[in-house]
Amino acid sequence: MLREVVATRYVTPLREGGSLPGIVEADDLGTYVMKFTGAGQGRKTLVAEVVCGELGRRLGLRVPELVTMQLDPVIGLSEPDEEVQELLKASGGLNLGMDYLPGSIGFDPLAYEVGPEEAGRVVWFDALINNVDRSWRNPNMLVWHGDLYLIDHGATMIWHHNWPTAQASAAKPYNASDHALAPFSPDVAAAAAALAPLVTEDLLAEVTAAVPDEWLVDEPGFATTGELRRAYAAPLLARAATIHERIVMDAPTRKGLSRAPGWLTGRSDDGARGPRGREGGR
Ligand SMILES: Nc1ncnc2c1ncn2[C@@H]1O[C@H](COP(=O)(O)OP(=O)(O)OP(=O)(O)O)[C@@H](O)[C@H]1O
Ligand SMILES: [Mg+2]
Repeated sequence: MLREVVATRYVTPLREGGSLPGIVEADDLGTYVMKFTGAGQGRKTLVAEVVCGELGRRLGLRVPELVTMQLDPVIGLSEPDEEVQELLKASGGLNLGMDYLPGSIGFDPLAYEVGPEEAGRVVWFDALINNVDRSWRNPNMLVWHGDLYLIDHGATMIWHHNWPTAQASAAKPYNASDHALAPFSPDVAAAAAALAPLVTEDLLAEVTAAVPDEWLVDEPGFATTGELRRAYAAPLLARAATIHERIVMDAPTRKGLSRAPGWLTGRSDDGARGPRGREGGR
């Protein structure tokens, strides 16, 4: 179970987030990034955040703490933005919170170096959960006190949008060519050797148990939430064993001068500086 807090003050919306997450204070005096059940993306996004966030944490990756947050929409009454008002009104009850990392900055491949081992663990984990939202365009990673943190696991486990095809979908490869850490020579073989044995039925039972019942009830095709929890666990268990063999990485990885791919830095293939070069006269 996740720790539960009560939202006490809506501070401000995070405009860069597609689902309009907000910064919210809670009765434990903590500050959280709150993701709302009333957002257009629906409650499955929140289920994915919990299953994958908690799985990542148990595999030793850094994920800010997740909590459930009780929301009384009344806390948004003084909020001038109508869109936010509507979102809060539609989200009474249990929502998701992620510990807000003050002073963190978005991951920038030109400013922050990741070793092949850590890059491999993140790419392997994203392949496991089929994360399509960790690209160089939208890395969904933060750097805080010098360490890399993973956020935003809402766009993962695509198979949970179509359960009858879940097992077949989970057998598919993972294309990591656009992955924000692809340029860092990710050692996915080492990551698979270290992490795959940790992904057991027991571990998956633990992470799926962390999802609140009310986000799982009434899923078509499932009689009980227990059955649905097992349906989340099965593709992950199957995928853990062999997904490293099906990670596709087309983008050339670059060592040395620039760790970011040419199409990001503006450097052309022969090493000449392109019009968007950002590295200065090195
Ligand atoms: N725990 C956190 N601490 C500090 N800032 C955060 C945290 N979580 C998210 N943010 C900031 O809020 C932004 C939006 O968060 P997030 O990516 O989780 O939302 P989203 O609506 O799922 O976004 P999108 O779908 O557009 O990627 C992040 O890019 C980051 O700048
Ligand atoms: Mg995001």
